[in-house]
Amino acid sequence: MSNPSLLILPGDGIGPEVMAEVRKIIDWYGAKRDLAFDVSEDLVGGCAYDKHGTPLHDDTMAKAQEVDAVLLGAVGGPKYDTLDFSVKPERGLLRLRKEMDLYANLRPAQCFDALADFSSLKKHVVAGLDIMIIRELTSGVYFGEPRGIFKEGNERVGINTQRYTESEIERVARSGFEMARKRGNKLCSMEKANVMESGVLWREVVQRIGDTEYPDVELSHMYADAGAMQLTRWPKQFDVIVTDNLFGDLLSDLAAMLTGSLGMLPSASLGAPMANGRPKALYEPVHGSAPDIAGQGKANPIACILSFAMALRYSFDKGDEATRLEKAVEKVLADGYRTADLLGEEGRSPVSTSQMGDAVIAALDASLT
Ligand code: IPM
Ligand code: MG
Repeated sequence: MSNPSLLILPGDGIGPEVMAEVRKIIDWYGAKRDLAFDVSEDLVGGCAYDKHGTPLHDDTMAKAQEVDAVLLGAVGGPKYDTLDFSVKPERGLLRLRKEMDLYANLRPAQCFDALADFSSLKKHVVAGLDIMIIRELTSGVYFGEPRGIFKEGNERVGINTQRYTESEIERVARSGFEMARKRGNKLCSMEKANVMESGVLWREVVQRIGDTEYPDVELSHMYADAGAMQLTRWPKQFDVIVTDNLFGDLLSDLAAMLTGSLGMLPSASLGAPMANGRPKALYEPVHGSAPDIAGQGKANPIACILSFAMALRYSFDKGDEATRLEKAVEKVLADGYRTADLLGEEGRSPVSTSQMGDAVIAALDASLT
């Protein structure tokens, strides 16, 4: 049997630096766990625009459709801010999500013990926090038509459309319920049914799927604004949250910050199963391209490393190896390794991006003895 295939798209800003550390980890699994991958690498985002005049070349798109999983770093940067909307770096990422039909975006927010002091919230509010946000990723206001900036009389009007079909809500609701069953059996769905018809439909459909297919899962509904408030008030009341594309974008950044650093959080974007039974999948850190620190060896590679752990779990059915990697990260943090974003008030000196990667490798080695 051939090795599973991985397409790596480091992208822009700190993307290439953090991905270089993931490459070390992938190599480690090949050498030490007999888990080799066929890895290819390509461009996405601003770097793809610089070379091809488009943030995602058709050949890259085709490759992404063929591989077992895609691993992405980050896209974007100030250099591209003035580009036309249609070729902005972000469009490359959005095209991947849309054309691969990656409708379920899993964004765990987990507070590592060693970092509980870093949260802007009180330690007892966040210590031990472990929630999973499932964000719908291929529809809603990100993709709804009509959209654009139009002339209306003597002024312009900017239009975006929030749109959800029943089947789009059903499938992501099922992802939410399935995840809840694997965890604490509790699902909270968030929308704005008080002001948006799409929210009314969302609530209705999620409730129906719950009643008919998952009566064993405890389901609740919350308006997304109240959800944001509750997430900061007492986040541990939640287990799995399912929400739409835009609310999920906002709430997942909020949840990420609860844990102390955006630099720590991975994500998985999953679609329907392919012929080999694996879901279409793209893994990426939640953080962005951080152009202000790019190229300086300051970036935290942990979110990207943990994204690879998610790939091991969700694409390659290697939950035990994913846990090994997550434990290695935990150990490195417990041992005091900190990249610059994690320094806070502790007065230690930071390790570089590659020192952090090497420390994780050392912890992986130690896990074998
Ligand atoms: C995210 C990002 C993206 C989004 C951008 C880069 C298009 O904020 O993945 O959360 O808005 O979805
Ligand atoms: Mg975002």
